[in-house]
Amino acid sequence: MVAWPLVDQMNPAADTLALASIEFDLTKVTEGMQVVVKWRGKPLFVRYRTKAEIDAAVHADNSSLKDPQKDGERHLEGKPEYLVLVGVCTHLGCVPTFGGGEYGGWFCPCHGSVYDTSGRIRKGPAPKNLEVPAVAVLSDTRIKVG
Ligand code: FES
Repeated sequence: MVAWPLVDQMNPAADTLALASIEFDLTKVTEGMQVVVKWRGKPLFVRYRTKAEIDAAVHADNSSLKDPQKDGERHLEGKPEYLVLVGVCTHLGCVPTFGGGEYGGWFCPCHGSVYDTSGRIRKGPAPKNLEVPAVAVLSDTRIKVG
């Protein structure tokens, strides 16, 4: 009985919890583009891929990848056109630029890492793919990240 108030005080404050997850309206991103939002102090990329970008990502499933992962493991469930990624290079933490590099995904200007249209590392010093956060699809147009 006495322990509960103490434990309750140790829970995160409401404003902290609010930052732990965010909702996003997918209609804010148009085909071929990405929107960047802030989540837990980091940039979050929400990309609406074209059919050509999806095809390129799926085609690369059988390539020799440094951090092997199929495109189907990375896009929103049931929505291959949408990718949600933490926009932090897995080398030393710079923010990669949209549409850069020869794989049409992202290019990190700090040391030249190149990510494909699935956010997978294809070239350069980064050891891992861009992180895919936990995402829940709430409706046809809304998602919750975190
Ligand atoms: S921080 Fe991106 S390549 Fe080094």
